[in-house]
Amino acid sequence: MNLDLEGRVALVTGSSNGIGAAIVRTLAAEGAQVIVHGRSAERAGRVAAGIVGNGGQAVVVTSDLSHDAGAESLVDQAVDAAGRIDILVNNAGVYANSTWEDATGDDWLATYNTNVVSVVRLIRCVMPAMRKAGWGRLIQLASGEASRPFANMPDYAATKAALVNLTVSVAHALAGSGVTANTVSPGIIVTDEVEKFYRDVAAREGWGEAWPEIEAAVLTHVLPNDVGRLGTADDVASVVAFLASPLSGFIDGANIRVDGASVPTIN
Ligand SMILES: NC(=O)c1ccc[n+]([C@@H]2O[C@H](COP(=O)([O-])OP(=O)(O)OC[C@H]3O[C@@H](n4cnc5c(N)ncnc54)[C@H](OP(=O)(O)O)[C@@H]3O)[C@@H](O)[C@H]2O)c1
Repeated sequence: MNLDLEGRVALVTGSSNGIGAAIVRTLAAEGAQVIVHGRSAERAGRVAAGIVGNGGQAVVVTSDLSHDAGAESLVDQAVDAAGRIDILVNNAGVYANSTWEDATGDDWLATYNTNVVSVVRLIRCVMPAMRKAGWGRLIQLASGEASRPFANMPDYAATKAALVNLTVSVAHALAGSGVTANTVSPGIIVTDEVEKFYRDVAAREGWGEAWPEIEAAVLTHVLPNDVGRLGTADDVASVVAFLASPLSGFIDGANIRVDGASVPTIN
């Protein structure tokens, strides 16, 4: 299937690592010009160099999204480098393994600021130009935890629920404009960081040392799913690429789960 992304410009926040890096690689392979973003120029530069080495088009932009100036600077740099933004993928996000006991009010505010308000800042910056162009895509990376939170990381889960909610609102606000807004909610996705996290848990819990044993333990003790494996960054990237494309024009205000059915079954 040709996703018709040739000539489109996509800004993917937090694409210096993990799921975001897979998203920019996929969009670039489909012909989009991608703007690789992170706080670290070195990490973002490595991802962009890999894309350019494979014949794709990529530029690097760095900024910290936890304040207004960082978001505005990101959009200014992206437009200077690529001329416009057709597709905004709000992927950057932080998660600490917090508990109800140790996450303070300030921790909740900091997580909300980075995971939610940064997204609001960027959407508000790009909305007017997308509306004027009559076409655009706003895609937020939420999480299965938006509707199925664990006991731990409550501040993180609440931010993801907020993203699902605000995406429906902005979809309505942009009704009839040609700009759509959707969320993608991954289950557990094995990025380098997630693998390291579960290797540490496995060492503590005695789940074994080989990754297949650890993966099986995560599926048993943390979050079972019907597919029987954990997700990959490419599983998420291909859904985001479809949503970013003109082919997704009738999908708006939706929350698409990419989690192998990590949901409770009703028997
Ligand atoms: N992995 C999973 O299992 C999973 C599951 C569900 C949802 N998600 C969501 O998917 C998204 C990507 O997750 P991931 O696991 O790929 O994350 P990751 O590997 O930790 O990468 C996070 C990215 O966000 C950037 N970032 C973080 N804070 C930032 C800030 N204040 N300003 C600018 N950039 C910032 C980082 O850039 P630098 O490090 O270069 O600064 C990095 O590129 C997140 O929104 C996450 O909540 C992940």
